[in-house]
Amino acid sequence: MKSIGIFDSGVGGLTVARQVIELLPNESVTYLGDTARVPYGNKDPQTILRYALECVNFLLSQDVKMLVIACNTICAYAWDEILNRVSIPVVGVIDSGLKTLLHVTKNNKVAILGTSATISSGIYPKEIKFRNPLAEVHSIAAPLFVPIVEEGFMEHKVAELIAEEYLASLKSSNIDSVLLACTHYPFLRKVIEKALGEKISVMDASGACAKEVALVLQEKGLQATSMSPKHRFFVSGSASKFQQLGEKFLGKKIENICEIAL
Ligand code: DGL
Repeated sequence: MKSIGIFDSGVGGLTVARQVIELLPNESVTYLGDTARVPYGNKDPQTILRYALECVNFLLSQDVKMLVIACNTICAYAWDEILNRVSIPVVGVIDSGLKTLLHVTKNNKVAILGTSATISSGIYPKEIKFRNPLAEVHSIAAPLFVPIVEEGFMEHKVAELIAEEYLASLKSSNIDSVLLACTHYPFLRKVIEKALGEKISVMDASGACAKEVALVLQEKGLQATSMSPKHRFFVSGSASKFQQLGEKFLGKKIENICEIAL
């Protein structure tokens, strides 16, 4: 039984894996988190591409039927290259995030929060303006959010202080929507919402991405036929650390975690 391969630099992609598992309870997921090399968001484009291709090769060796790039940074720098190299369907979070954001905004004034690499790629403003030339886009790099999540410090004061620092400029802008354009950030949704105040809607790509996965599986006739899904998790760093955080993020027990070298 082939599974859906989902990958990220670390635990962030579990935001997407959770939605996929909830929406498609018969499907098996093979998750890869490159936890030994996270964060990707402060690396140069060539390194991000190289790491991304190593992740793809690993998942292909696990015989997955589809790839879900649950990492904005990888989508920003490796999307075309991955598409060129694989013959199975590929879904990525950037497209899902853009659709969600443009559907929700009412005044076309939006902000993107992402890693330094995602923000400096300029992909979001470019794609938003292409789809809606009237849009006004504020881009904010929030790199410290990633280690805060990887270390499990979501409820700590430090998370609040950093959120206030990163988001202060948005409070006085007239944006109505913010996209969490890094799959780690939804784990900090509470502190981000608090720092932004009630008038700004905060959203992420995970729900729309899971729906896209369902659609592609259906279109390609790749849906699971068995009712006994098996989820597997691979990490390049510590399995026990991943298990501790991962169970919290996934909202269920994680049993099959394997440490691998990429
Ligand atoms: N979760 C990843 C993203 O969506 C990247 C985090 C990182 O490795 O810096 O961009």
